[in-house]
Amino acid sequence: MDKAPNAAQAEFWNAGAVCSWVDLHADLDRQFAPLSDQALAALRPAPGQRLLDVGCGCGANTVELAGRVGPQGAAVGVDISAPMLARARELAGERGAVNASFVEADAQIADLSAGGAPFDGVFSRFGVMFFDDPVAAFANIRRHMRKGATLAFICWRRPDENPVMLAPYRAALDAFPVKPPKTDPLAPGPFAFADARRIDSILGEAGFSAIDIRPHDQKVGGLPFEKALAQALRIGPLAGLLREQPEVADAARQRVAEALRRHETPDGVWLDAAVWVVSARA
Ligand SMILES: C[S@@+](CC[C@H](N)C(=O)[O-])C[C@H]1O[C@@H](n2cnc3c(N)ncnc32)[C@H](O)[C@@H]1O
Repeated sequence: MDKAPNAAQAEFWNAGAVCSWVDLHADLDRQFAPLSDQALAALRPAPGQRLLDVGCGCGANTVELAGRVGPQGAAVGVDISAPMLARARELAGERGAVNASFVEADAQIADLSAGGAPFDGVFSRFGVMFFDDPVAAFANIRRHMRKGATLAFICWRRPDENPVMLAPYRAALDAFPVKPPKTDPLAPGPFAFADARRIDSILGEAGFSAIDIRPHDQKVGGLPFEKALAQALRIGPLAGLLREQPEVADAARQRVAEALRRHETPDGVWLDAAVWVVSARA
């Protein structure tokens, strides 16, 4: 029998490694806030709207959206990761966001509006590059949007434009005796939407119009050196390699530290980030 859609991603985002994302989310939220702001500006949330946050993770953006739409509106976060959603629910409680709610479901196939009114807008920060059938996923998302509603998200551009994601990994690679296999750049993963023409074609095929894709470049970070180093070792592709080959952890750590030192300023460590800010109409 065929596997369920997105089975590999569901396994990844529910595995023990996700603890790192949950532990580090407050720092990540602070670092990525200037990037999320780009998608929020494109979405232009208004009081009373009902909004969806796709791949909401630990929920910071869902809570922010809930604040923007106010008590007459609502924000729903959807994600396939139970541990991240547990933190998201906690965060909404801590911030008193009673109009934020969370659904554990695959955005590619789920009944996202669950019989309720269609969404007035859909947002995502780095949560839409993991679908094994992106056209089906975006068509499903569009089906649950009001006609003319705005979709706005950010996704990573190419790896070589994103030291924030890849500099520690590249610096450490020499230390690992077993090199990772080459991966398909279009496979579900953080860089699956690096090509703007691909995004345009996926959204067009999924039935969206007025597709706008523009680049945004920004240094992100600001963590003190030791925290930046700890974060670099705990998330992303480097963390995966370290789990598989822990015997070279010291050598890898030293190389990453040297690389990050080159980006240290009196205000912490800052690395270049390059994203697409995408918007479209349902
Ligand atoms: C890189 S994280 C981003 C999380 C959050 N938006 C943020 O910026 O902190 C990607 C998120 O997408 C979720 N995700 C991946 N595939 C999904 C799917 N098919 N349906 C819903 N969520 C999915 C993951 O579980 C994960 O929480």
